[in-house]
Amino acid sequence: MKTLIAFGTKYGTTRKAAEELSKRLPGEVDIVNLKEEKSPDVCAYDIILIGASVYGGNIQKEVRGFLDQEKHNLIVKPYGLFIAAGNDLEVERNYRVYVGKTIYDQAEIREYIGYSYDFSKMNFFEKAMIKKVAKVTENTEKLNQEGLNNVVQWVKEVENRLNKSTADSTAEQ
Ligand SMILES: Cc1cc2nc3c(=O)[nH]c(=O)nc-3n(C[C@H](O)[C@H](O)[C@H](O)COP(=O)(O)O)c2cc1C
Repeated sequence: MKTLIAFGTKYGTTRKAAEELSKRLPGEVDIVNLKEEKSPDVCAYDIILIGASVYGGNIQKEVRGFLDQEKHNLIVKPYGLFIAAGNDLEVERNYRVYVGKTIYDQAEIREYIGYSYDFSKMNFFEKAMIKKVAKVTENTEKLNQEGLNNVVQWVKEVENRLNKSTADSTAEQ
């Protein structure tokens, strides 16, 4: 089985989650940073995970572009979404808008994976905004292990399902 993890990130939380997932997933796993690498061919994979983070009320434009471009290839495969954001309630309210209705509705799993704030990577305005809006004043990291565990569990279940359907169709022949 081959799994693709395609993600966008601004300061690295989503990359960290993608790397953690890649170590924990069974089978062959490719990780692609959509902001730095060529858009991968979704058709070459059995299972796809797409990760993004929220900035100023939207996700990375590279992730939106990828979802838009690959929509028809994605919806015929088992795929899941994971997202980093300062506020899980905001994600709950707006996830569908960020990724688009079809992609959201047909995803088999959608997980909130937490957040981090690294003030050394923010500019003056970002620091001021985070202090005011998120009420965070120092570097903080809160990865949501439950969300990551759910993604790993889901991939294992899909692998079992796909292996079983291959075995069933071989037996029928
Ligand atoms: C400048 C800035 C703007 C942000 N805007 C939002 C936002 O609109 N909604 C939200 O839920 N989180 C927001 N966040 C929190 C980020 O989603 C969070 O820091 C996340 O961990 C970033 O992931 P990344 O490092 O993978 O890009 C913002 C963070 C920063 C620094």
